[in-house]
Amino acid sequence: MTEPFAPSEVIAAKRDKQELSDNQIDWFIDAYMRNVVAEEQMSAMAMAILLNGMNRREIVRWTNAYINSGDRMDWSQLDRPTADKHSTGGVGDKITLPLAPVVAACGVSVPQLSGRGLGHTGGTLDKLESIPGWRAKLTNEEMFTVLKECGAVICAASEHLAPADRRIYALRDVTATVESIPLISASIMSKKIAEGTHALVLDVKVGTGAFMKTVEQARELATTMVAIGNDAGVTTRTLLTNMDIPLGRTAGNALEVRESLEVLAGGGPADVVELTVTLAREMLDASGAKATADPADVLKNGKAMDVWNAMIAAQGGDVNAALPTARFSHDVVADNDGYLTRLDALSVGVASWRLGAGRARKEDIVQAGAGVEWHVDLGDRVAKGQKLFTLHSDEEARFELAVESLATGFEVGSTPVERPALIIDRIV
Ligand code: URA
Repeated sequence: MTEPFAPSEVIAAKRDKQELSDNQIDWFIDAYMRNVVAEEQMSAMAMAILLNGMNRREIVRWTNAYINSGDRMDWSQLDRPTADKHSTGGVGDKITLPLAPVVAACGVSVPQLSGRGLGHTGGTLDKLESIPGWRAKLTNEEMFTVLKECGAVICAASEHLAPADRRIYALRDVTATVESIPLISASIMSKKIAEGTHALVLDVKVGTGAFMKTVEQARELATTMVAIGNDAGVTTRTLLTNMDIPLGRTAGNALEVRESLEVLAGGGPADVVELTVTLAREMLDASGAKATADPADVLKNGKAMDVWNAMIAAQGGDVNAALPTARFSHDVVADNDGYLTRLDALSVGVASWRLGAGRARKEDIVQAGAGVEWHVDLGDRVAKGQKLFTLHSDEEARFELAVESLATGFEVGSTPVERPALIIDRIV
């Protein structure tokens, strides 16, 4: 086959800050999937895009090229509308776990394709895999059956969904090209559009524990993704939410499942409940359906827990089995009286990762019971000797480095501080 372009010619165009044509973009991705564009050429292109950016037309075309590299799912046979949520990832972000059953209990189906964690942010599948017997990998038919029977399904994306993104994401991860707004937008939105949801709510995290460190960057990412989604016929909205402090009171796989169960039982930390209810209301509204109940009510009356139990059991999970716990624990106590004046998401995330809850490379195995619990919230009064954190790991040798990370991430001061607002902005 005669190729219409040479890879180096298209790379040079982006290197020299030119706009890529639709044909160049379509060809570059397709040729990469046919191994005509080599890995090092795609890496060079990713770096050129990271450095020189892309305009809206280029981003939409790049996203579509990812979608066209694989299958598209279709939920038109379901008798209810669908809505999905995507978070750009944060520390202690277990919101998908209570959120999917809450939305389903209010009358809208949730086909939630999730991923595994890399680095200091945890992955939803890693968390759910701490439930004995639970299976992440489903066929499309199984996914449809769980969705139809339970109203929600959380599972791994098939390798046929936006496979170009899968390959390019792996390259970006090792070539320092993850932090590009065009590439992040295309990566997230291609998977969500290919997944076939009617409505999508994005939770773009901002702060030390997030990809986006400033509100300006987060707003740009959010605006780009909302435009791509709405253009593709998916009603898309975004909340910008705080990730300077971690969510809830736990970071770690089984620890976060336990906390999610507290929320589904009508309790749990106020910030996790607030974000779950706010995102659920956005999803219901964006779906265009008339909700059959309010999210706050289904957390209190057990309806969301019923969906959870059905959904977990349908994927082989034993809802009555005890969640795994780590072999060792270690407490960190306050050195003086005062108030918790700083609790840094990144430090908690790195500590949890060092304890074994996360992975450094894709092939690493995570520990189900590892992670960090914090017993006080930002602004709380603390007394000298009071237990502030409990660290959990199957390997005692991991505590030293985890404590080091945590030590730089909290302060006990003499003046109380206010908790910052969780929801920073809403972009539709
Ligand atoms: N999540 C994704 O799916 N892709 C990115 O590029 C970044 C975060």
